[in-house]
Amino acid sequence: MNKARYTRDVPGDRVDLLNRITGVEKPITVMTVGGVDSGKSTLITFLANELISLGFRVAIVDSDVGQKGILPPATISLGIPDGPFETMSELTGISHYFVGTTSPGQFIGEMAVGVKKMVDLGREVADVVLVDTTGFVTGPGEDMKRLKAELIAPDLIAVIHSGELSALARSLRSYGEVVELAVSNAMRSYDREERKEIRRQKWKAYFSNSRIVEFSLADVEVTGTSLFHGYPLSDSEKKLLETIFGWLVLAGWKGREYTVVKADVERFPRGYSRNLKAVDFENLSNLLVGLIDAEGLCRGVGLLKWVNFSEGLLQVLTPVDDLFGVREIRFGRIRVTEEGEEIDLLRRDAL
Ligand SMILES: Nc1ncnc2c1ncn2[C@@H]1O[C@H](COP(=O)(O)OP(=O)(O)O)[C@@H](O)[C@H]1O
Ligand SMILES: [Mg+2]
Repeated sequence: MNKARYTRDVPGDRVDLLNRITGVEKPITVMTVGGVDSGKSTLITFLANELISLGFRVAIVDSDVGQKGILPPATISLGIPDGPFETMSELTGISHYFVGTTSPGQFIGEMAVGVKKMVDLGREVADVVLVDTTGFVTGPGEDMKRLKAELIAPDLIAVIHSGELSALARSLRSYGEVVELAVSNAMRSYDREERKEIRRQKWKAYFSNSRIVEFSLADVEVTGTSLFHGYPLSDSEKKLLETIFGWLVLAGWKGREYTVVKADVERFPRGYSRNLKAVDFENLSNLLVGLIDAEGLCRGVGLLKWVNFSEGLLQVLTPVDDLFGVREIRFGRIRVTEEGEEIDLLRRDAL
């Protein structure tokens, strides 16, 4: 279920990088950058195992939200291997930051903040912090890599490419020492379906042994959405919207704009203005949510199964045992089943 495995059969430039890491003063942070399937996770697995066998304490920050080794998906995780390992999926994360989607294009802020928080925690306990990243390196992905590098100021930035990332590699020099590595000849690429299947297995593994838990809005904040924010609409305001648009309005709030949760009653929905955000009730079912503590860290994730607006109750399927300390339920933007079927990726402004 993981692409990247520990191998010592690596190109010589990886061994040179290892020697540089062992030779410099600790602690040190190393960030990897490269396209999809360029060998970032294989490099990190190699470096981590070699460093551990040399007696160094290693922390891994896994920020490849779409193809993570450390569960759960859609978060950024910190793992501290306590011995040699074959793949990152063997590692248990000790801390996570919620991103809420496997496709981070509209979530650059979350990605940068999450990586920074995990790297800071890793630096407290490890000699070497290794940062794995997404293969999203073009367009906004390029900005994301730069912003991450700017924020964490890595000592070394390993850029794995075959020439296509030369401009990015040059631009990263302002934020850390750049080491350019060639893509391994042994590299194998995975198509969309294969990646999806890997993700399916990861979701399924994470949600096995889950149960439904109930949160009351009296105890937790709902964040990451305009739902539950602003003045609740009165019954007459809801009725008015129902009459105008042919909806059943389940809940609504008035802030800078109107947000309503509705179900269509008429077969042909009518258009509505831009300052009204209408969320279909069914878009909330199986929505990924983060269980967030007072430090802003994610204790784990869950799937939203039911919202009772009138009583202010949320039902969430989650494997997280200890819910004490969960202060926030943060809405993500992916809908997925506990079997790992990804139903929908939502835009940031959809909720
Ligand atoms: N040095 C290597 N030796 C053998 N296989 C490699 C090597 N580097 C990468 N690969 C293979 O290429 C594929 C993609 O590597 P991976 O590390 O998962 O890439 P990324 O993390 O950049 O997406 C994997 O199947 C991996 O086993
Ligand atoms: Mg990877």
